[in-house]
Amino acid sequence: MKPIRKAVFPVAGLGTRFLPATKAMPKEMLPIVDRPLIQYAVEEALAAGITELIFITGRNKRAIEDHFDRAPELESDLESKGKIALLNVVRDVLPSHVNCIYTRQSQPLGLGHAVLCAAPIVGNEPFAVLLADDLLDADTPVTRQLVDAAHQHNGSVLATQTIDIQNSFKYGMVAGTAVDARNTRVDRIVEKPAPEDSPSDMAVVGRYVLEPEIFDILRRTQAGVAQEIQLTDAISALLAQRPVFAHRYVGDRYDCGSKEGFFKATVAFGRKYHNLRTD
Ligand code: G1P
Repeated sequence: MKPIRKAVFPVAGLGTRFLPATKAMPKEMLPIVDRPLIQYAVEEALAAGITELIFITGRNKRAIEDHFDRAPELESDLESKGKIALLNVVRDVLPSHVNCIYTRQSQPLGLGHAVLCAAPIVGNEPFAVLLADDLLDADTPVTRQLVDAAHQHNGSVLATQTIDIQNSFKYGMVAGTAVDARNTRVDRIVEKPAPEDSPSDMAVVGRYVLEPEIFDILRRTQAGVAQEIQLTDAISALLAQRPVFAHRYVGDRYDCGSKEGFFKATVAFGRKYHNLRTD
């Protein structure tokens, strides 16, 4: 398998669950302690060797572009005041060897459509997809775990975790045959099934390594659940052409698309990484 150099970040969503906070600010810029959600996802991608960051944006998302750009006034202000530690924090948001590319998804046609918007930029090579809403805390960053599994098994890889099957209607759900302790060759994947229709209790979380064959399939994929073009439906069609693996990653997931998950992440990260206390 070719090296995985590119990562796609679908960030066009409206974030209505966090209104009014997201009225004028992208939901991906909501901070967990001191850095925005999107920065955690970007850092995870960089730790997997990714050098090209492709953001699928929409209206109201300029703050993301500004965040990953240089900030000359701020930097010279910090420098003139001798605030070197903070200057480094600002500069280190993005290493200089990394490129950012922004393209717009002008209609909210679904995650599959968002990923398809990246096709001309990704070209004919495998790539990662990271959904910033899913904040993953792991000793070995989860995208790195997926990239390693993709190279080992020579196919696409989906991050998965076991869930209470009553929640299957929130996730892409997969089933298949185990190939080793952490990887399952997928033979079925269904988007947001009712518990009684779910093929298993294995749920996809927002990290994928996909082979470029997915793009041609996405071009033909019709709207599915919620009248949206679903990435899950395209992956289901990919199963007939190429191997796809579910990787049971090692790490903790916080669903920062929900207030409860966001709150839990804030407390957990504050305690673990910033020595903050609630008492
Ligand atoms: C998306 C995918 C779903 C996946 C989930 C992970 O759903 O469509 O298959 O399980 O992300 O977070 P969303 O949460 O955007 O509705």
